[in-house]
Amino acid sequence: MLHHLPILSPDPIWGLTAEFQADPRPEKIDLIVGVYRDETGQTPTLNVVKEAERQLAATAGSKAYRPLAGNAAFNASMTRLLLGDGASSLERAATIQTVGGTGALRLLGDFIKLAQPEATVWTTDPGYINHRPIFEAAGLHVRDYHWRQQAEGIDVELAFNSLADARPGDVLLIHGCCHNPSGIDPSAEDWAEIAAFCAKRDVVPLIDIAYLGFGLGLDEDAAGLRHLVEALPLVLCAASCSKNMGLYCDRLGAAMIVAPNSGVLANTTRNLENLGRTNYSMPPEHAAAVANIVFSAKDQWAAELAAIRNRVSSLRTTFCDTLESIGAPASFQALRQHKGMFSILPLSPAQMQRLRAEHGIYGSNTGRVNIAGLRAADIPMVADAIVKVAAYH
Ligand SMILES: Cc1ncc(COP(=O)(O)O)c(C=O)c1O
Repeated sequence: MLHHLPILSPDPIWGLTAEFQADPRPEKIDLIVGVYRDETGQTPTLNVVKEAERQLAATAGSKAYRPLAGNAAFNASMTRLLLGDGASSLERAATIQTVGGTGALRLLGDFIKLAQPEATVWTTDPGYINHRPIFEAAGLHVRDYHWRQQAEGIDVELAFNSLADARPGDVLLIHGCCHNPSGIDPSAEDWAEIAAFCAKRDVVPLIDIAYLGFGLGLDEDAAGLRHLVEALPLVLCAASCSKNMGLYCDRLGAAMIVAPNSGVLANTTRNLENLGRTNYSMPPEHAAAVANIVFSAKDQWAAELAAIRNRVSSLRTTFCDTLESIGAPASFQALRQHKGMFSILPLSPAQMQRLRAEHGIYGSNTGRVNIAGLRAADIPMVADAIVKVAAYH
């Protein structure tokens, strides 16, 4: 059996991380994997999460099986977090707990395959490295559309032109905020145009929101999703708690379907549950129980998240100021407008390799870097190295 297996190269991100770990240079810098890091280079556990875990350990509840949709209180709180307290759309939403944001994407992929097997899922180019593999694994066609920078934000016209072949029933995957890898987010006007496009072309949006709270704030970052939900009869959403609660390895997320009316919700949920049932039966409870306590201390959570967001944004500003002050090409200044942890440096794969080989600075060959991987003290050295490699063509 095993000799029939395809021969695979290492995953590009995790393979590069292994290369980083094997690099003996003490001054090496990891800007590869999308995790938040503090000034000491650690990915901290939020205080609000530590407190929640203390409470759970003290009560030591039963580990008996949970329902197929996971933790009902978590599902209700996630729906409110995404759609807004008191939103009328809450009544037409079905939400199921998933194994991280990845689990939500795959569950929705399987759901689309079941409901609309011929649908094409349109993903952004550049885009999240795992989108295409997830939807192809679900048996769906996947095509790309352009997600490019213009003077102010996203070039919507270019995006729509590259969607010329989209057919009714196709799925348009949009990053809800903090686009990975480009950091380019739609403005309110862009979201209105996206909603009008979906309505006119009868295309179903799927919002992947993995960085809620990392852009401008918990409510602000959900504004695009909420706009689409108000404007359209059907919206799919894959949410992750990995980054905004720092629960990366506990694997918590949610798949939400905002349906045309509440009458279809019970059957929609049963179908989502059934898809999970044939895969892992039910999602793990622990992180959802933690999240419920975090939701009940929302002010503390929002404050800790704001500190993270402000640190990333101040690193971004200092990075751009430093690049400007040492004469880096003007194209680097686009990074200032970006939201969230990622940006694409305007460097070629060869220049990114040079950055690694000569300066020990690790980003993807595509130019993607995790700004949160920078420490303030490293910025002058990183900026200097970038200017040096940018001079080679
Ligand atoms: C755009 C995007 N979607 C989904 C995910 C998956 O998140 P999770 O780690 O919760 O599975 C990520 C993680 O990096 C991401 O960047």
